[in-house]
This record gives sequence, structure tokens and C-alpha cells, in this order.
Amino acid sequence: MTGDERTETMQHPSDALLLFGATGDLAQRMLLPSLFGLDADGLLPPNLTIVGTARSMLDDEGYRAVAAKALEDHIDAERLVPAAVTRFLDRLRYVPVDAADPEQFVALADAVGDAGRTGVSIFLSTAPSLFGATIAGLSHAGLTGPEVRLALEKPLGADLASSRVINDAVAAVFPEERTFRIDHYLGKETVQNLLALRFANTLFEPLWNATGIDHVQITVAETVGLEGRTGYFDGSGSLRDMLQNHMLQLLALVAMEPPAQFDATAIRDEKVKVLRSLRRIDAADAARNSVIGQYGEGAVAGQPVAGYATELGRQSSTETFVAIKAHVDNWRWAGVPFYMRTGKRMPSRHSEIVIQFKPVPHSIFATKGAVTQPNRLVIRLQPAENIRLTMMTKVPGLDRDGIRLREVPLDIGMANAFADTRRRIAYERLMLDLIEGDPTLFVRRDEVEAQWEWIDGIRAGWGANGMEPKPYAAGTWGPSAAIALTERDGVSWND
Ligand code: BG6
Repeated sequence: MTGDERTETMQHPSDALLLFGATGDLAQRMLLPSLFGLDADGLLPPNLTIVGTARSMLDDEGYRAVAAKALEDHIDAERLVPAAVTRFLDRLRYVPVDAADPEQFVALADAVGDAGRTGVSIFLSTAPSLFGATIAGLSHAGLTGPEVRLALEKPLGADLASSRVINDAVAAVFPEERTFRIDHYLGKETVQNLLALRFANTLFEPLWNATGIDHVQITVAETVGLEGRTGYFDGSGSLRDMLQNHMLQLLALVAMEPPAQFDATAIRDEKVKVLRSLRRIDAADAARNSVIGQYGEGAVAGQPVAGYATELGRQSSTETFVAIKAHVDNWRWAGVPFYMRTGKRMPSRHSEIVIQFKPVPHSIFATKGAVTQPNRLVIRLQPAENIRLTMMTKVPGLDRDGIRLREVPLDIGMANAFADTRRRIAYERLMLDLIEGDPTLFVRRDEVEAQWEWIDGIRAGWGANGMEPKPYAAGTWGPSAAIALTERDGVSWND
């Protein structure tokens, strides 16, 4: 197949979507509502058949009832127009499959039937332990041909070695250009807007380097605790659950060189260079450059909440908070710290990237008693999308007692600027890109592996230093050591 032919194949929209894990939590909360949203806006291929599969013994009608309930629970009532709901439910079919039995996949291929001949997108939203068996079953049923794309949800392994095993099993059947690894943060509008901010404006790029920027902060704070995901989360912890994927992707987008064009290869080539330039944090500096914590009992939004060990029902040394001071060792970022932190049971749900610019080289206002603060760009992902640049301005007045300066924000309040545009779920974008065959916002194998390599070094460092999570009360910003991590550099977290 030539490159041109391949591009053509990849850009052909699928006529069938196969959803593994179709009755699971992600399917109900995100995937079905996203597909409905796309369908209601006329964005799905008209003939797209959606075939759900899981172990539950349901028939088409049974699955439509599950889907109808998921839409009721997760979509605003005013958007549930009956005709749109009926049209969406009519697209759904269901085939029960036990992934351990390859024979059962034949019924799936039958359900995909003719629709699948022009293209099938497969979405694996199941435990990674089932990936191998599922891929074997798909091969057995002939669902791996050049017209089939495979999307995989995280976690893609627990370390570099196990992620390679998964990637190898996938690669044996699906070539990289038909493998779509999901990181749902890449589907978030503000994350993509970061590219527009950097590369559709001339203003920032000349300063976007060690000369102009003092440091970068990336915070993903959640108020939720375990949410019943005990088995998965306790075996993972915040470093692997959030930082290995979502936060390193954010870091890569902030730090990458300008790609030559907006396409999957150019953007991912630049991201992987950043990921490979992350300075290794190992045994010698793990204790100095990272902090881990675990929440105890406390209060979030005025409500008392139990500690992690109580929720879990036993003691554990899994971290529910991690803060890291990282460096990207290249010319652009020499000497610029990237502080990252993420935690469960924080005081507020608050995810943002802070670009802290350097102070002016010489303040002409100092002799007039005025203090200048360095500019700060805050890209807020959650709860509300917003981009804010703080600027110094003069406080109006006759200045008889000296000049007063104050920081004033320049806001791009996305909600106001684009009030008539519906905010979409991250998965809407990713599902549509998958169905249409655009891999730009999916993670390439070399990126995932570079991410794991760096993370494995940190975990080995924790092990070598016998580091255990420090306690913090639920509803606080993590252990006090996380504050010390930045304060010793004269930096405060943007709380
Ligand atoms: C998931 C993690 O990948 O991201 C969860 O497994 C976390 O632990 C979630 O809660 C956060 O996503 P969002 O979009 O709510 O920030």
C-alpha cells in the first residue's frame, strides 16, 4: 500500500463502530452520551451502526434500554429530543461476547456485517487484561483487515515493560497507523486551544522559552476520592493514573517546538522529542524532586469525607497525590522548572496550566514605590475553560503618594466569547476523529513508551528511597512538603 492509498483508507469514515465494554461505566457516562451528541448534530455517518458488546447477556432491546438510561442520566433533558433519541437508539445493536472464547467473535462480525465492509472502528473500553484475548478473537473473526481501526483506553500497562507487551500484541495485528491510543485530555477543547494560543498568535512564541519564562505549573486537582474504583486505583496511584498520561501530554504540548503543520505526524514528532528530553528523576533526587501523599479524613465542600484507607477498607501505600519538579533538558527550556501536581480530595476541582513569565529586567517604577509583578498566563481547563493573562497597569489617580501599579487580568472567557457554541465532551471529539480516521489527537506508541520510561525512573527512585506517601487531610492541597517543593525555589503554587 502506498502512503497516498493509506491516507485515503484512513480518511474513509467507518460504517460500523464496535464498542467493547459497552455496559461499563465509561460507556454510560461518556461514550454513549458523546455518540448521541454527535448524532443529534448530524455528525455521524448516516449509516453508522453501533454494535455494543460485553459479557452481560442482553439483546438489542436490552442494550437500547441501558443506553436510554445512560442518556437520561448524563444528557441535559432539553437536548433529549425524542426523535433524536429514537434515531440514535435505532443505530444500536448488541452482541454478548466472552472475550476468552474466540468463537463468540464470529457473531460480532456477523452483526457488523455489510456495514463493516467499508470500515470498522473498534473501541476497547475494557480492562487491559482482556486486550490480548480480544485481539485474538477479532483476528479469528476476520475483524482486523485494512479497513479496521482499533482504539484503546488507558491504562496501557503499568510500566514500560507491560505497556510494551500490550503494544506488541496490538502491533502484531494492527499497524501503528490504525492504532488509536486514547488520552481523553487531548479531546478537551482548552488543550487543543493551547495549540491555537501558541501557534496562531505571534505574541507569545518569541517569549516561550527560558529567556521569557521563569517556570511552568501544571495542576490537575480533583475533589473526588476513590469513587468505587478501588481495585484499579489502588494498583495504580496518581503518578500512573494521571501524571504518566494526561499531565505529560499537557507538558509536551506546552514545551514542544512549533510543528511544521497541523497533522498527526508533525505534532506527535514534536511531542515525543519533549518527552524524551525529560530529565530523569532517579534514586539520587527522587526525594528532593517529588512528593507523594495520601488523603486522610477531612472535609470537601463542607462535607465530611473518609480517608483513603477507610474507603479502601485497609492500609495502603498508594499515593493519591503527587507533585514533581521536572526539567526538559533542551535549548529552549534549559533551567526552567515544570512543576506538576495532581491529587484526589483537593479543596476544589481545578485544572490549569500556569506560564509564569520572567520579571521585567529593570523596573523604572521601583524608585516611585511601585512593585511590578511578572506576567502570568493561566490556561484553565476545569471547571470552566478560560485563558487569562495578568498584566501590570497603573491604578488611576494623580500619584501624589507615588505610583501604584496593579495586576489586571486580560480574560478570554471561553464561555462568553463562544456563548452560542455547545461545550462538547472530550470523547465527542475523539470518537468522531476515530470514526473519520484522524489520529492527530491520539497518542503514538513512541510517546507512551517515552512517558513510561520517565515514570518508571521516578517509581524506582521512590523504591530506592523507601518513600511512602505523607498524609494530608482531605480538602487540602496535599502534604506540606508539596508547598516546600516550590517554595524553596521562591515559587508559590497558584491555588
Ligand atoms: C482518568 C483517571 O483518566 O481521568 C481518573 O483515571 C480521573 O482517576 C479522570 O478522575 C479525570 O478526568 P477529568 O476529565 O474529569 O479531569
